[in-house]
Amino acid sequence: MSGGQETAPLLTAEEVTRVYVLGRDNEVHALRGVSFAVDHGEHVAIVGSSGSGKSTLLNLLGALDRPTSGHVRYHGRDVRDMDDTELAQLRNADIGFVFQSFQLLPRLTALDNVVLPLVYRPGSPRERRERARLALERVGLADRVTHRPGELSGGQQQRVAIARALVTEPALLLADEPTGNLDSRTGEEIMILLEELHRDRGTALVVITHEAEVAARAARRIELRDGLIVAEAA
Ligand SMILES: Nc1ncnc2c1ncn2[C@@H]1O[C@H](COP(=O)(O)OP(=O)(O)OP(=O)(O)O)[C@@H](O)[C@H]1O
Ligand SMILES: [Mg+2]
Repeated sequence: MSGGQETAPLLTAEEVTRVYVLGRDNEVHALRGVSFAVDHGEHVAIVGSSGSGKSTLLNLLGALDRPTSGHVRYHGRDVRDMDDTELAQLRNADIGFVFQSFQLLPRLTALDNVVLPLVYRPGSPRERRERARLALERVGLADRVTHRPGELSGGQQQRVAIARALVTEPALLLADEPTGNLDSRTGEEIMILLEELHRDRGTALVVITHEAEVAARAARRIELRDGLIVAEAA
């Protein structure tokens, strides 16, 4: 990542809170003061029951949302202080994001969905399409590149979302239930794929999961309950 201090952790959350205000007297305190750090090349699992604040936290870590209070820093630099160019670089190049709800564009083919994050990259359209095709091949979808999301199974859509997140070769991959819609065998294949990226390219992984087997594969586990970290285990 550009312009950072090499000694600072890749990512830190410091006393992060997020309050959703739905109206007068109707506030949801989704995060109530969460602090932790993720180092380069780490593999961290975030676990916790439904509604405990996991997706809220991931959105903040991915700079898609701002904390109500507290700080999220990349290489020691507060996301709050970044200008639009830095934020765009962070979101488009440094971080890959796999959303709980995929968020594929329904009118585009699988290939074009995966090409999207590459549009600001150097290289010809043909090169970008080739990179996207390789990413789809990595997730086992070489024979589905021209399908639109509505013409794919849930698990296949999940894999397109993963291909889109890894096509830019980000330093950090944030994944919200990446195996949540997959049968156990496909889920295992996806985890092996993420671990290959982690091992071969040093990609840091932060993976939300409710599956014990998926959490057990991470070097570190953070458990959220009611918007607070209640346990951290190595
Ligand atoms: N945009 C929003 N507006 C208001 N409240 C929200 C919003 N998003 C989430 N919440 C609330 O914040 C709390 C945390 O939600 P979050 O989506 O982070 O939970 P989660 O741990 O990801 O749950 P799940 O495992 O079901 O995905 C929940 O009580 C939820 O209802
Ligand atoms: Mg969630």
